[in-house]
Amino acid sequence: MSTLEIKDLHVSVETKEGRKQILKGANLTVNSGETHAIMGPNGSGKSTLAYTLAGHPKYLVDSGQALLDGEDILRMTPDERAKAGLFLAMQYPVEVSGVSMTNFLRTAKTEIDGKAPAIRTWSKELGQAMKNLRMDPKFAQRSVNEGFSGGEKKRAEVLQLELLRPKFAILDETDSGLDVDALRVVSEGVNRAKENTALGILMVTHYTRILRYIKPDIVHVFSDGRFVKTGGPELADELEETGYDQYLPEGSDSESALA
Ligand SMILES: Nc1ncnc2c1ncn2[C@@H]1O[C@H](COP(=O)(O)OP(=O)(O)OP(=O)(O)O)[C@@H](O)[C@H]1O
Ligand SMILES: [Mg+2]
Repeated sequence: MSTLEIKDLHVSVETKEGRKQILKGANLTVNSGETHAIMGPNGSGKSTLAYTLAGHPKYLVDSGQALLDGEDILRMTPDERAKAGLFLAMQYPVEVSGVSMTNFLRTAKTEIDGKAPAIRTWSKELGQAMKNLRMDPKFAQRSVNEGFSGGEKKRAEVLQLELLRPKFAILDETDSGLDVDALRVVSEGVNRAKENTALGILMVTHYTRILRYIKPDIVHVFSDGRFVKTGGPELADELEETGYDQYLPEGSDSESALA
């Protein structure tokens, strides 16, 4: 059993107008086997949290910790974080020209496990995982995400998740842009990963429809750089009804932002 603890995390980015604080004291604990949904308005800092945990250099940690089984991952390089068991499915997966999916996945698997997977079992595993996600085998030879449609990129993220077997996965809007069938297929992939490895999941989403397939244990509202409310699955339905108005900081409407 593993635990990911985010403690009073403050993060900023460099902007043309100087340093801008985005995360303002985020606190969260996720255990193995738990699924947490994170919902919140555009621009509140959800992707910032995801990228900060994964180690994107643009995000500057001002203070706070992110402990994976007691070890502060914020002190680690991005590859060390991945080896420690953290995985990020990006909101906007990047295209990597000239690197085939198959080479990328095999290299990542080798790095994370500390040894190369046996070729025969690996090919079988990759083939089966792609089949489960209804991905054409031809995708294995294509460059990572290059020219993939939005939905195909999201499938490719879940393919990585299934093959790399992390302890914790952050899924940043993995459901957005998926057609109804793809939503089901991608959700099944996430649920398989959870069943196989007691994965802990942080799922950033704007829509309750994915929560019908991937059942959250806990739902959080994230607003203005921090978690402001935590509840059960019913909180997601409540948010769909009422929106985020009651969770926005004073004076944060669009008119005052432009004043
Ligand atoms: N270089 C930058 N200059 C100015 N603002 C920035 C910069 N980088 C990030 N931000 C701001 O940080 C805030 C948080 O962005 P982030 O992508 O984390 O939001 P989000 O909660 O994931 O939103 P969404 O739901 O739309 O994906 C936004 O207001 C964004 O404009
Ligand atoms: Mg985002």
